[in-house]
Amino acid sequence: MVVLGIETSCDETAAAVVEETGDPAKAWRVRSNVVASQVEIHREWGGVVPEIASRQHVRDICGVVERALSDAQADWRDVDALAVTQGPGLVGSLLVGVSFAKSAAWALGKPLVAVNHLAGHIESIWLEHGAIPLPAVVLVVSGGHTSLYLIEREGDYRLLGRTRDDAAGEAYDKVAKLLGLGYPGGPIIDTLARGGNDEAIRWPGTRLTNPDRNTPQRDGRFDFSFSGLKTAVLRHVRQRQAELGSERLPQDEIVDLSASFQRRVVETLIERTFAAARWHGAHAIGLAGGVSANSRLRADALAKAERSEIPVFIPGLALSTDNAAMIAAAGLRQLAAGHIAPADLNAAASLPL
Ligand code: KG4
Ligand code: ZN
Repeated sequence: MVVLGIETSCDETAAAVVEETGDPAKAWRVRSNVVASQVEIHREWGGVVPEIASRQHVRDICGVVERALSDAQADWRDVDALAVTQGPGLVGSLLVGVSFAKSAAWALGKPLVAVNHLAGHIESIWLEHGAIPLPAVVLVVSGGHTSLYLIEREGDYRLLGRTRDDAAGEAYDKVAKLLGLGYPGGPIIDTLARGGNDEAIRWPGTRLTNPDRNTPQRDGRFDFSFSGLKTAVLRHVRQRQAELGSERLPQDEIVDLSASFQRRVVETLIERTFAAARWHGAHAIGLAGGVSANSRLRADALAKAERSEIPVFIPGLALSTDNAAMIAAAGLRQLAAGHIAPADLNAAASLPL
């Protein structure tokens, strides 16, 4: 079975060809994975402008799909099914991928599968590593989401908790914007932080008094909150700007702030994920989504895995940030379960998983 995946949920137009291998230990193989990033276009505005994003998807989608087919040395006749991101995401962006995939599937007479973007991020772990030990706890950490899932059976995702306010990637992007570092903030702060003192600034502790927000609940729910940290950074920066009489902080302060901020985010993500894994008796931990590309998160999680004897699985960088190979993989999972999208499939901006 060969699946063409299409992903247009935010500011990346992506298409990929993924095929089944027949090997249960590593069921899928990426034949091509093409991403046309709009980062340069949105950078000017300091973030994604939805209307511009959807127009750019319209311009790029045909070329991206053709490139994915030619990179895979395939043509339309080789495609057995299509998979497309139905949501969550920007509705105008999603609609471009959904309309394109529906039209192509109809014209080819091939089945179409609707994929939840977060399921795609989760399946990127299986796409990279093959079958991992179950039950597994998977953290999906991106620009729009910070959610923990328990996976007891492949393709079965149980939400354990999520952020009550900002996603971790959103916190990165907002802090970078505040410091005048540009967009997207995650990779910029990641790079800057490597040279900084991560103990330079002690952020106020996360409140542990409110069980609804910050402590694991008795039923095994694990939520996150990043808005308090974001506000603490904002206060710190405003105070320093006032003291210095300048908008721009000295570079060494920016570097130390980045390192201290990143340390707090990474520690929170790892602590909560491992706590959830212990609570639920997980045999493996997975990290997926754009923030899982973070160098410190990857290194610290793998180091903790060695100490705690729960193995950690993270996709390679090309599968961490938004891509269509993960959507094709999640599509193959759904096809195996017999889930085909109806002809009146529509985009769903807040599709739950
Ligand atoms: O999964 P993704 O590509 O798109 C969404 O589904 O949101 O994630 C994008 C997010 C952005 O917030 C970006 O700043 C963050 O992932 N990100 C990173 C890194 N690379 C991307 N955050 C921290 N460190 C990175 N190296
Ligand atoms: Zn994503």
